[in-house]
Amino acid sequence: MRTEQKSRRAELLKSHCPELEINTKNAVLESHGCDWTRFRKPDAAAVVFPRSVHDVQKLVRVAVEHRIPLVPSGGRTGLSGGAVADAGEVVVSFERMRRIIDFNAVDRTLTVEPGVVTQAIQEYAAQRNLYYPVSFASEGSSQIGGNIATNAGGIRVLRYGLTRDQVAGLKVIDGRGELLECNSGLVKNASGYDLRHLFIGSEGTLGMIVEATLRLTDPPLPSRVMLLAVNSLDAMTQVFRQFNDALGLTAFEFLSAAAMAHVRAGHGLPAPMDTATPYYALLEFDCADADTEERALQRFEYCLEEGHVADGVISQSEAQAADLWRYREGISEAITGYTPYKNDLSVRISEIPAYLDDLDQLAKSRYPDFEVLWYGHFGDGNLHMNILKPADLPVEEFEKACGRVNPEIFELTRAHHGSISAEHGIGLLKKAGLPYTRSAADIERMRGIKAVFDPLNIMNPGKLLG
Ligand code: MLT
Ligand code: ZN
Repeated sequence: MRTEQKSRRAELLKSHCPELEINTKNAVLESHGCDWTRFRKPDAAAVVFPRSVHDVQKLVRVAVEHRIPLVPSGGRTGLSGGAVADAGEVVVSFERMRRIIDFNAVDRTLTVEPGVVTQAIQEYAAQRNLYYPVSFASEGSSQIGGNIATNAGGIRVLRYGLTRDQVAGLKVIDGRGELLECNSGLVKNASGYDLRHLFIGSEGTLGMIVEATLRLTDPPLPSRVMLLAVNSLDAMTQVFRQFNDALGLTAFEFLSAAAMAHVRAGHGLPAPMDTATPYYALLEFDCADADTEERALQRFEYCLEEGHVADGVISQSEAQAADLWRYREGISEAITGYTPYKNDLSVRISEIPAYLDDLDQLAKSRYPDFEVLWYGHFGDGNLHMNILKPADLPVEEFEKACGRVNPEIFELTRAHHGSISAEHGIGLLKKAGLPYTRSAADIERMRGIKAVFDPLNIMNPGKLLG
C-alpha cells in the first residue's frame, strides 16, 4: 500500500485517540505485522497497544467510522498468516492487556485479559493446585486471545479437548464497535445461540476478544511417557488402540523417521533407542501406581509380539519424560531454518493409515525434489505435513511449487472426509483450501455471520473468508 495512505490511517487514529499508544516505527511495523509464517511481507500502517476494553472499543469505533482495517495480534505464533498485516492494516497488539482479572476457586474459573501468555495461565492454575490443560510447543509466547481466536489444539486434545472446551465466557468488541458479553462463566445456559462459540476459531474476523473466562480442572496425576519404535502406520493404529483402551492416554503423538532425524540434528539429541523404524509414537498416560505401569508394560510386550513395535523406552522421572517430549515438541523449531511449507490436516483417527499412505504417494510423485516430514497429533487425527525448502531455491518459487500440488492434497483430504486445517486456522495461506472442507452452503452462511458482526469488513479483512 502507498506510504501516504498508511500515514493517513496512522494520523487519523492519533488525532481521534490521542491517549492510545500508537507506534509507526519500521522495526515495530515489521515485527508486529507478521506471524511465524514466512511467506508474506508485512506492510502495516501502525501498531496500536490498547490497555483496556475501553481503549479497544474506542479504537474500533474510530476504525469503523473511517474504514480502517484492523488486524488483532497476540503472540504471533500462528502458522497460517492469520495475524499478518500485509495490506496497510493497523495492527492491534494485546501486549499491554496482560492482567489476570479474577480467580474463582468455587467455580474453578480464571478470568484474564487477552494478552496473557498461555504458559502464565498454566502456571497460575498450577499454583492453585488446578490445571489448564491446553498445551503446545509455542505456549511460552502465544497469548490466550490468539489461542481462542484460532481454537488452539496441541498435544492433550485427546484427553481434555480443544481451547473451545475450556472457554466459559468471553467479552468481545465486535466489528460494529459493540461490547458483547458471551456466557458469563455459566455451566448451563440454554438461552439460544451461543455466540461465544462463533468467536472461538473465528480468527479475529468477527471481533476482538477483550476478556476470557477459562475453566480449570483437576491437576493431572503423575504421568509416564513412552517413546516407541513403530513398524508401520497400520501398526500405529493398533498401538494407539491397545494403549488407549488399557490406560486412557493423555497424549498420543507420532513422527516419521525423517522428522526424528531432523529433531535430533536440530537439537543435538542422542538416538532414543537402538532400533530404527519408519515411525515413532510418543504416548503419555497418568500413572499413579505400579499396577498402571505394569499394564503399560504388558501392552508393550503384546505390541512387540504382534510385530507392531520394534523397541521402546519409558520415562522413570519427570526429567526423563521432558527429555522424551523433546523428540516431538522440538521438531517445529528444529526445521524453521528450512522455511517449511506446512499443511495441517485432519481425518478420523481410524482413517489415518489409508489417508497418509495416499498422501505420501502423492508427495513422492509430485515433490520428488523436496523432503517431506510427517508428524503430529495421531490421537486426534491431526497430521502435520512439512515440506522443506531446498537451500538454493528462492522462497517465492518454493511457495509456488508447493501451492501447485495443494489442490490434489485438498482433494485427497475431501475424499477421506477430512479437514485441510486441523488446528492452524485458514488465515491468509489456506483460503484456497476452504471449499474442499466446507460446502458452498457452509461458506455462504459464514459470510452471512460475518456481515452481521462486521458489516464494514473492518475485522481482519482478507483472512479466512477473503
Ligand atoms: C506442532 O504440533 O508441532 C505445531 O502445530 C507446529 C507445527 O506444525 O510445526
Ligand atoms: Zn500441532
